Amino acid sequence: MFSQPILKRTCVLVLTVLASGSLGGPCDLYSTGGTPCIAAHSTTRALYSAYSGSLYQVKRGSDNTTTIIVPLSAGGVANAAAQDTFCASTTCLITIIYDQSGRGNHLTQAPPGGAASGPETNGYDNLASATGAPVTLNGSKAYGVFISPGTGYRNDAASGTATGDSAEGMYAIFDGTHYNGGCCFDYGNAETNNKDTGNGHMEAIYFGDNTIWGTGAGSGPWIMADLENGLFSGQSAAANTADPSITSRFVTAMVKGEPNQWAIRGANAASGSLSTYYSGARPTVSGYNPMSKEGAIILGIGGDNSISAQGTFYEGVMTTGYPTDATEASVQANIVAAKYVAGAMTAGPAFTVGSSVSLRVTTAGYDTRYIAHTGTTVNTQVVTSSSATALKQQASWTVVTGLGNSACYSFESVDTPGSYIRHYNFVLLVNANDGTKQMHEDATFCPIAGLNGQGNSIRSWGYPTRYFRHYANTGYIASNGGVHTFDNIASYNDDVSFVMSTGFA
Ligand code: AHR
Ligand code: AHR
Ligand code: AHR
Repeated sequence: MFSQPILKRTCVLVLTVLASGSLGGPCDLYSTGGTPCIAAHSTTRALYSAYSGSLYQVKRGSDNTTTIIVPLSAGGVANAAAQDTFCASTTCLITIIYDQSGRGNHLTQAPPGGAASGPETNGYDNLASATGAPVTLNGSKAYGVFISPGTGYRNDAASGTATGDSAEGMYAIFDGTHYNGGCCFDYGNAETNNKDTGNGHMEAIYFGDNTIWGTGAGSGPWIMADLENGLFSGQSAAANTADPSITSRFVTAMVKGEPNQWAIRGANAASGSLSTYYSGARPTVSGYNPMSKEGAIILGIGGDNSISAQGTFYEGVMTTGYPTDATEASVQANIVAAKYVAGAMTAGPAFTVGSSVSLRVTTAGYDTRYIAHTGTTVNTQVVTSSSATALKQQASWTVVTGLGNSACYSFESVDTPGSYIRHYNFVLLVNANDGTKQMHEDATFCPIAGLNGQGNSIRSWGYPTRYFRHYANTGYIASNGGVHTFDNIASYNDDVSFVMSTGFA
């Protein structure tokens, strides 16, 4: 009935399935389909059922040492507990996202490019916080890669990626609620010299609500393809109404391309099956047919290192060959079975919505000061129970549900209702809520346990490497080391830890 080789392959497959208790990882499925992964990146789980090697490397702020996070077991979820132990009472950055395919196509801090030099002093992009995107997979804790504007990863010397017009496929899982209109939150194939070298020199998945080039239906965000000098939702860089606005918390995004044929596909990563948003010929504008793919790999940035975009990446792969829809259907089923659920964004002493709080400084020599404001300036001021009512009100904040994320909080000024603490250029301000998405996100903070062991450290939702900090008695969101004076590592843990109490007013 069956030929010997088919029988043998079937037996091996059955044994693998029995051994792993699953249908294999996404890359096992791509292999079975004849379009194997040539890059496989994830901070949350192994993407092959037999993979038990490095998932990602983190570097901690306390002593700049690194550790490598591996799966709990072969084919399993990342050992987030090992990260939590290593990063306890300090900050941690994701320094390397390892390639699980065996080709060494790791992603590291992206170098400066044609569009922008990154914010680091050497022009490199920022690294992501290791704790900005907590999730659970089948109940097991893990962390994604939260990309703030200015953050990016890249590999300019990848092996096995598609070049020229050769075929490839790719998918990534993103947070459907974390996006913006900046250029360009991408994952995929890009230029090897970090510059815009012309139409057709990229083929990457884009996610966001950028409207400079193509758009889909509604107001976004959309899955599009970044083919260089254009985000394409379909054949022309205009609106393709078959490319829907994404509404799910976790989104599976796929792009694939081969000579004069490419497709965009998408799904809710937590349930259901893929839909095809575009499948057809290449754009007719010169340069896209044939393609001139270069084969570098980018995450979180545009091909020329445009760094204005934001988004969250959990896992993604690139293949050689044009995957079949059937293969992609099996990958989507595997993703759904991984059971992605959003994780807890806050920890430490709990904030209560509707309460009035005051936040006391814990740095020795300054610990009679509270977070207060003078007009729009956020500062620290010495406040006591016998202070004037006006000062007590300046140092009191009403806790509200996070304007930009309901899993976190915003702090409304008691003496100026309708105005909230927000950051702007990383400086804390008290601004009226103008109703914009930017204001809402800038005013959203996620308190965790205080880094110095006292009270809370109040993390910026949109820039999770940054926490409320007082510096020269003025308020900032500061990272633990960085280009700004207020990012100084001296007394960082103390300067970012505040003890919450019932508000003075
Ligand atoms: O194609 C959109 C963007 O245009 C690319 O990502 C970037 O290289 C260029 O600025
Ligand atoms: O504070 C950092 C950024 O600065 C804010 O997100 C933005 O509003 C401003 O450009
Ligand atoms: O905000 C007061 C002090 O100013 C901080 O503790 C210190 O880091 C800075 O010099």
